[in-house]
Amino acid sequence: MRSTQSFLANPRDTRTPPPTADVMRKAGTAEEHSMNVDSQILVAGARGLAGSAIARQLARDGYQHVLAPARRDLDLLDRSAVDRYFKDHSPAYVFLAAAKVGGIHANSQHPADFLYQNLAIQNNVIDSAYRHGVRKLLFLGSSCIYPRLASQPIREESLLSGSLEPTNQWYAIAKIAGAKLCESYALQYGWNAITLMPTNLYGPGDNFSETQSHVLPALIRRFHEAKQRGMESVTIWGTGTVLREFLHVDDLASAAVFLMLHYHSTEPINVGTGEELSIAELAESIKAIAGYTGRIGFDHSRPDGTPRKLLDSSRLRAFGWRPRIPLTDGLRETYAWFEEHHALARA
Ligand SMILES: NC(=O)c1ccc[n+]([C@@H]2O[C@H](COP(=O)([O-])OP(=O)(O)OC[C@H]3O[C@@H](n4cnc5c(N)ncnc54)[C@H](OP(=O)(O)O)[C@@H]3O)[C@@H](O)[C@H]2O)c1
Repeated sequence: MRSTQSFLANPRDTRTPPPTADVMRKAGTAEEHSMNVDSQILVAGARGLAGSAIARQLARDGYQHVLAPARRDLDLLDRSAVDRYFKDHSPAYVFLAAAKVGGIHANSQHPADFLYQNLAIQNNVIDSAYRHGVRKLLFLGSSCIYPRLASQPIREESLLSGSLEPTNQWYAIAKIAGAKLCESYALQYGWNAITLMPTNLYGPGDNFSETQSHVLPALIRRFHEAKQRGMESVTIWGTGTVLREFLHVDDLASAAVFLMLHYHSTEPINVGTGEELSIAELAESIKAIAGYTGRIGFDHSRPDGTPRKLLDSSRLRAFGWRPRIPLTDGLRETYAWFEEHHALARA
């Protein structure tokens, strides 16, 4: 196991001095860096699945000053705009939940967008946050960035220990660079930047688009439409045998706020439920919730993705945090949300 680095400012590091006096003033111990209800907090990507859940969690916990700009107000690909935003709003804490996200199909169609946009967004936000005196930044990595054949359950130490899953390598390489950028700023500048590695997320507000969605919202949409159209069968990509873990996004948000308060290390930290099921089992659950009575078929000619992906979340559990929402309850809630918002969903 690699040694961990705590985030004490290092006054002896003269190689690259902190850029502004403001940064110097804000430097201190991890304890001084605790977010509180009066802190100015930026949630980047606050209109997305994870970002909106983090913003909701912060509101529930009584945080008064949460900045949640939409993309039309702040394009994170535009470095000057990002710098201006940090200068004008002086956030002290940043949750970086903005990214170009999508499933196997989207990754295979837009490799350049997945690699370039994710690199640009995280480079712009992480460097600008550091230069404008942000006290702590939380970066959302992903379980997709671990090696394809990492031993299971996947421990944080597996990062960069083997080849990536080719179907999402573009996204994975960018996100690995983001996690490493956080680690490098911590090592070089003593800056407090942490990386969470969430497993597959789902919940209200997910992306149900036909071409851009992940497997769980895609299945919700397909069973719903199959029922509405009276279709005899639904065909699912792959063999249905691959194993996946799913975390309700409200649980992810609760873990993110918890770790912003309590976790101070360069080591990424996994966030999952510890429970897995096959895609075929997931499909059966969603079929039942949707009330669809037709058949399920599997198209073996289509890619499966990584054969098994279960995170070892024992590092997080050792802090006392636990997920609260069982998968069946979360699926019912998400299906109801999809039905209610279908016309408005980002389809
Ligand atoms: N979903 C999962 O299963 C999962 C699992 C593990 C980790 N994660 C990580 O969690 C993070 C968030 O994922 P998510 O599922 O919440 O994705 P999402 O729903 O697609 O949300 C991403 C957000 O980023 C915003 N964004 C993208 N490009 C932007 C730009 N140039 N300027 C400003 N905003 C921009 C999007 O804005 P628009 O709404 O305008 O597009 C959206 O609000 C990502 O880092 C992802 O890697 C997700």
